Amino acid sequence: MKVIVKDNEKQVAETAYLLVKDAIIDRQYKVLGFATGSTPLALYAEIVKGFQRGELDFSDISTFNLDEYLGLPPEHPMSYRFFMESNLFGKINIKPSNIHFFDGLTDSVEAECDDYEDLIASMGGIKLQILGIGRDGHIGFNEPGTSLESRSHYVTLAKETLADNQRFFSKASDVPRWALSMGVGTIMDCQEILLLATGEKKADAVAAMIEGPISTMCTASALQNHPATTVVIDKAAASKLKRLDYWMQTADDYNEMYDYLLAARHRYGLE
Ligand code: F6R
Repeated sequence: MKVIVKDNEKQVAETAYLLVKDAIIDRQYKVLGFATGSTPLALYAEIVKGFQRGELDFSDISTFNLDEYLGLPPEHPMSYRFFMESNLFGKINIKPSNIHFFDGLTDSVEAECDDYEDLIASMGGIKLQILGIGRDGHIGFNEPGTSLESRSHYVTLAKETLADNQRFFSKASDVPRWALSMGVGTIMDCQEILLLATGEKKADAVAAMIEGPISTMCTASALQNHPATTVVIDKAAASKLKRLDYWMQTADDYNEMYDYLLAARHRYGLE
């Protein structure tokens, strides 16, 4: 895991934007995975600005989102599909046919989840998946206790989540009780992962994800075993890391390491 610690939320978004831009331009990634929630909003605003400056072109890019509520149509203002349309997709040149979401009104959650997995696989897999992290260490809707090998599945939302979500709905009975989510195993299959976290309220989850034991009790901890995960966090979210100095030392030292090696090769007459 590569851990990049920035001073504040703005710098986290700017850094994440450069990483997304590199993935799209340098590595020519055509299949991206997106998350909803408040954390990636600043990144999405940077992506929109980058698109307006002419730096990014989404005309041949396809996307998969991590999760969706069950029981809400895409045009419902609380659906994740609507969220993505309002904050990103409606502001860039992505083709609607290239946007992939779980169907929240499916007549078979099993078939819907299988089809989602098959579609991801048929497109060669997700090259870069953007993630946030919940306060309990969840990624996607994979709450504590979810198998780290899980594939796309339906999730029964915890009472705390229902209570948290109630403020967005006019009555308690309107709050969705279930959702569909990529599984931890689905996320682990993504070629690269970019996880963002900001604010002190995420500090415990970030510490558990990076330095805790790998456990279903913090599904993000599975990412310790992912070969290409970059975590970009602000100082507040990093505040409970025990080995913060080491993480900061290693984050940007790749070029420095090569300069050092080159100098050593000169010294020993190899260059
Ligand atoms: C969103 C998602 C969730 C969020 C997480 C953090 O699609 O899958 O895992 O990333 O709940 O949410 P925020 O960013 O609102 O703190």
